[in-house]
Amino acid sequence: MEFDYPGILFRWLHILAAIVAIGGMAFCRLALMPALQTLDSEQRQQIHEAIRARWSKVVAGSIGLLLISGLYNIFATIKAPYYKQLPDYYMYAFVVKFMLALGIFFIASALSGRGKATEKIRQNGGFWLTVNLLLALLLVCISGVLRMSHHGANIPLE
Ligand code: HEM
Repeated sequence: MEFDYPGILFRWLHILAAIVAIGGMAFCRLALMPALQTLDSEQRQQIHEAIRARWSKVVAGSIGLLLISGLYNIFATIKAPYYKQLPDYYMYAFVVKFMLALGIFFIASALSGRGKATEKIRQNGGFWLTVNLLLALLLVCISGVLRMSHHGANIPLE
């Protein structure tokens, strides 16, 4: 069997982008935000702006990589020999995953952006960051189900 080089490349990109983005959210919610509470309001705002300016680039990069590698994953799945044998729930689970991903991208962009229209989300940043983190954890669990539906531990190699 030939080794699937583009497959592994896009798999790395997909998983690494997800790890960086979700790991950053978890660090921010669980360590950085409580630590910032110990500073006075002026210091807090200064550090917050310095971090936001840098982190927004990581968020944009992760979203781009997840979309590109995710689209590749879709085409690879459609071309795969197991495509016609996928269980019925696969498509429903994928649609839920995709909608969740769009929602997560929106909240992450709003939290790390500066636009007037998303100001309300930033004013309640702690709440929305918690929501986004929980949605992202759910999305990773659904992605695991998608993968296990055709590459489960008990499926023998051909
Ligand atoms: C927050 C964003 C996202 C996260 C955290 C995420 C996470 C994951 C993870 C952990 C896997 C399993 C990887 C593996 O075991 O190889 C996966 C697979 C996949 N992802 Fe994503 N993903 C995200 C966004 C997207 C988007 C936007 C798309 C579509 C454009 C997409 C399409 C796929 C597909 C088709 C698979 C393969 C599923 C299968 O094995 O049947 N993902 N994703």
